[in-house]
Amino acid sequence: MKRTILIVDDEPDLVSVLQGFLTDKYNILTANDGATTLKIIDKEFIDLMLLDLDLPDMNGIEIIAKMKQYYPEIAILVISGTGDIRAAVKAMQLGAVNYIEKPPDYDEVRTVVKKILENNEVRNKEGSLRPDKRENELKSNKIIGKSKKLNEILETVKKAANTWANVLITGESGTGKELIAHAIHNSSARRDKPFVVVSCPNLPTELVESELFGHEKGAFTGASEKHVGKFEIANGGTVFLDEIAELQPSIQARLLRVIQEREFNLVGGHKTIKVDVRIIAATNRKLEDEIGTGNFREDLFFRLNVIPVTMPPLRQRKEDIPVLALHIIEYIRKELHCKTVTFSSKAIEILQSYDWPGNIRELKNVIERVLSLHGTNKTILPKHLPVELTRKDDVIDFQSAKLPKNNSLENIISSMESDLINQAMEQSNGTLTKAARLLDVEPWKLRYKIKKLKLG
Ligand SMILES: Nc1ncnc2c1ncn2[C@@H]1O[C@H](COP(=O)(O)OP(=O)(O)OP(=O)(O)O)[C@@H](O)[C@H]1O
Ligand SMILES: [Mg+2]
Repeated sequence: MKRTILIVDDEPDLVSVLQGFLTDKYNILTANDGATTLKIIDKEFIDLMLLDLDLPDMNGIEIIAKMKQYYPEIAILVISGTGDIRAAVKAMQLGAVNYIEKPPDYDEVRTVVKKILENNEVRNKEGSLRPDKRENELKSNKIIGKSKKLNEILETVKKAANTWANVLITGESGTGKELIAHAIHNSSARRDKPFVVVSCPNLPTELVESELFGHEKGAFTGASEKHVGKFEIANGGTVFLDEIAELQPSIQARLLRVIQEREFNLVGGHKTIKVDVRIIAATNRKLEDEIGTGNFREDLFFRLNVIPVTMPPLRQRKEDIPVLALHIIEYIRKELHCKTVTFSSKAIEILQSYDWPGNIRELKNVIERVLSLHGTNKTILPKHLPVELTRKDDVIDFQSAKLPKNNSLENIISSMESDLINQAMEQSNGTLTKAARLLDVEPWKLRYKIKKLKLG
């Protein structure tokens, strides 16, 4: 059966050329404004919509938002004006599968359309990307946790899995960035294709280009064999660029071109290689700051940050600690052949009150250490935990109290007070009574201070 495509654009010439290109294989419907579009999608069965973002009566973004709410099964390919990168990013975030700049290359449109519809077909046939199934897959990736923050991330993972958009995962070290990248790949239609990890800091400086894009035999001294690069290996799948902030500027420029053109040449070669990869990048730095200092290209940032995922540090989702601990115990217990089945509630409390600068990786290390030393006990008690977990930070840090110019003692103290209250509120997830306990003041006093200092 022929699939149906709806072309939405207010430029009649463009509509008729696109129609001409696609009409032999697909049923084509057209609309030149937002109102007509919405009428058509209410009435007809559409498989794919080619959408211009700049319509006379409505913003294309609004249309995408509506579609995703009422007709999430319809794929959307945005074909829109140049210089509209922010709108394009927004469109992809809302769930458009791809974006082609105007004036479009019609062959590219035809290839992309074919691919999107094939993908949709596979999906519908296998039902493999239906949410219930995907949920199970995420579980088998063993992403453990029950906090609201983690659940929000899993929602984004599901959305991202469904699109072709690039993803940028930011978060402190050990928060699970790589795990999430795997999850996105494994729950996407690309899951049977390679997931190729590139650790940017470990790329050999002189050979970065050839590592990523390959080289021809004889391309440079020492290139005695042809080398296939990571991008070619990953074709059809996902490239995971870990610690992307470490990528040197010349390679950033090259990468940008590959993302834009989806093709590249081997080092020392003339043959153009076309690739279809999704890029998931990760960093524990704030790329915005790196852009500010000139270390990272802003245009590359926009191309990568289509779907942003921010991994919260463990100290901001302490509810996850007990379940993670149980999971890790189970995992390690088998390896170490130990007896321990649980942590006492006091021990769990200590795990929850520690700040975990190394996040889940540190939690794993600590539990491993504890079990190898005390795993013959049935229950782990506070005395079995490493001392750094129980050491109290009860030494006041006066280092931060420098004498600033033009400021009163009262102001300085208020500002320190605000700072400490904010910290306590953050650590206790906004629960006033808990924060009061941390600060060792009565809750009513804390409430009064918050009001007086005008803290949110
Ligand atoms: N939610 C989770 N459930 C279970 N295991 C997790 C979870 N999050 C992280 N881990 C585990 O913690 C360890 C660190 O995770 P991962 O390597 O993905 O972190 P990362 O953010 O990439 O760290 P880095 O920046 O240091 O490379 C891994 O062993 C991973 O399996
Ligand atoms: Mg990592």
